[in-house]
Amino acid sequence: MLDTATGNGFRQQLAADTASAGGPVRVPDEDAGSIGKTLFDLPGSSDLAVTVVVPKDKLHAAPSQSLVRIISRHDGRKYLGVVTAGPFAEPDGLRGDSPMLTAVATHGGEYLPPYHGRVQVTVLGEELKDGTLTPPRLRPLPNSPVFVLNDKEAADLLKCSGDVRLGLAVGHESVAVGAPSGAKAVFPRHTAVLGTTGGGKSTTVAGLISRARAAGMAVVVLDVEGEYTQMNEPTDHKVMLGGLRDRGLAPEGVPADKMTVYHLIDRDTTNPSHPNRKEFLLQFGRLSPYAAMEILDLSDAQQERFLKAYDIAKEVMRDLGIFPAKGNQEQEQYALEIDEFERGYPRMTLPLLMDVVSACLARADKGPKQAKGKAKDADEDDGDSGPTFVPQTPELRTPDGKAKLSTRINAANPPGNAISWRGVMGRLGRLNRLKVFWGETDPNRDKARDKDAPLPMNYASLLKPGGLSVIDLSDTGYSAMSNLVIADILHGVQEAQELAYVEYEKAKLNGKDKPPPRVLIVVEEAHEFLSEERIAKTPVLFEQVARIAKRGRKRWLGLCFVTQLPAHLPKQVLSLCNSFVLHKLQDPHVVGLLRRTVGGVDEGLWDRLPSLAPGQAVVSFPHFTRPLLVSIDPAMCKLRMAE
Ligand SMILES: Nc1ncnc2c1ncn2[C@@H]1O[C@H](COP(=O)(O)OP(=O)(O)OP(=O)(O)O)[C@@H](O)[C@H]1O
Ligand SMILES: [Mg+2]
Repeated sequence: MLDTATGNGFRQQLAADTASAGGPVRVPDEDAGSIGKTLFDLPGSSDLAVTVVVPKDKLHAAPSQSLVRIISRHDGRKYLGVVTAGPFAEPDGLRGDSPMLTAVATHGGEYLPPYHGRVQVTVLGEELKDGTLTPPRLRPLPNSPVFVLNDKEAADLLKCSGDVRLGLAVGHESVAVGAPSGAKAVFPRHTAVLGTTGGGKSTTVAGLISRARAAGMAVVVLDVEGEYTQMNEPTDHKVMLGGLRDRGLAPEGVPADKMTVYHLIDRDTTNPSHPNRKEFLLQFGRLSPYAAMEILDLSDAQQERFLKAYDIAKEVMRDLGIFPAKGNQEQEQYALEIDEFERGYPRMTLPLLMDVVSACLARADKGPKQAKGKAKDADEDDGDSGPTFVPQTPELRTPDGKAKLSTRINAANPPGNAISWRGVMGRLGRLNRLKVFWGETDPNRDKARDKDAPLPMNYASLLKPGGLSVIDLSDTGYSAMSNLVIADILHGVQEAQELAYVEYEKAKLNGKDKPPPRVLIVVEEAHEFLSEERIAKTPVLFEQVARIAKRGRKRWLGLCFVTQLPAHLPKQVLSLCNSFVLHKLQDPHVVGLLRRTVGGVDEGLWDRLPSLAPGQAVVSFPHFTRPLLVSIDPAMCKLRMAE
């Protein structure tokens, strides 16, 4: 008889029943330490997705993105997976939205039914005895125990380490994420850092470049906004300082002697007090005439005239012995080998080209005959079509120079149409007024500056291992100018790197192993340099970049494109990249494009992209087992931020 008043009889009965059934449930030894069990599948189950239920006290043991090992009951196979949804809390034996629970919650009742957790796990593969991971042929059976991997196991599985540290993997206590500076498959295969404004791109880039530099890479930053010029100082940003402390990191600037800030002559820099500041000049002769036409946005008629004038200028330079110098076989040979899609004619100056354009303009202006460009009339005019202006180039002011120019122009018979010639002249004049080209600025100015006179950029000096060169373009005046500098530096660095490589290979033949520098070039605001809108109009520029990208893979030169407007970046540029750091991105069109470009990112991560917090990013590097959600380290160096 049960003693209903005290319940004692009931308890005794229950204890006896329990004992006869074999005592309390014992957790099998093989389940010790597990956080939950797999469930049965449903008709809607998909291949790699497994549902795991966890007891209430383990609800937070497997947060999103954590890695788990499932030991399949009975067959003993081991599977590794990642938590891609949840943890969700569900009441035992009730639906979470049952009317009773809804009523309790809405009326402020205290009742909380017993509950458990549920997480969705995506299986990454089957773990073989030797620890390798293979695509799974089967699935974990129901009721299999699930264990959370510790940080060491997780780091080994994710293969996400590297001396260029980016931050910590989300979902783990402390798994550092980085890129190996010495792996040819990583930086030399190019990187894109994308995200809406304020997403944390500059912070990521600052960390990337200071760590890459510290790892011995030569880093060049094409700093369109002048954000990175103060990286020699430790950060004083409150948020960053707090974040660094949490991670056990200390604020730290790039050693001043390892960093140089370059800015164009007579232009400002955002950090005038940098201890290592250098002005620089460009060389017009290095600039591909084709790239120059694209950057100057010349019309078809203007392009035709520009190229004609360029050819005439080359002939006049040869006649005058400017280049190749008379009897100089080496220069003769070099002149023959120039690929004008890559670079311009050596010693070509903007004033000389403008002199030729002026002469052609004067000729076109002279009358309807020449304006129509009839060859016969031009020939008849031979005697008096010499320049009716004062050339800027001293060599063309002499009677001999004048005569040579006239002869070449008459022989070339350039097309007429003074308006188009004036258009070309206008564009070149604008460029010339910027006075950024070497050898054609006011000679007295350079003399006055004497030994401090700025020189053209020395590209080899940008390749010092462990050096950071910030090219501050914040005050270049107009975007065509920034683009000219970017095109020039990209090409110059690539050429210098090719030379370093030749040296390296020569030394190797002699038994010396002196590896060439590993180079990283960061292009900020990349959409302004290469834009989807303009790509049809700037094929040469894009080809140049594609060529650098292709050669860079073999020659240790990595490009890193940074932009807040990935939709404006030509798709071709994204397809040059193998590594991606994706900060918050909201534009569904862009997310769609990236889904097609970046492989292996699970749906859960794509869904989170529009709502990532500043400093969080989905990171995909070729050496990772899978793309990861990363909480990027706060910047250790000072960034000039427009806040
Ligand atoms: N890794 C991070 N840790 C902590 N805070 C961060 C991190 N990254 C970014 N932030 C915060 O977000 C702000 C904006 O970051 P940042 O300037 O790097 O973004 P951005 O994407 O470069 O923006 P913009 O497009 O305007 O250049 C920072 O000032 C900082 O407050
Ligand atoms: Mg920025």
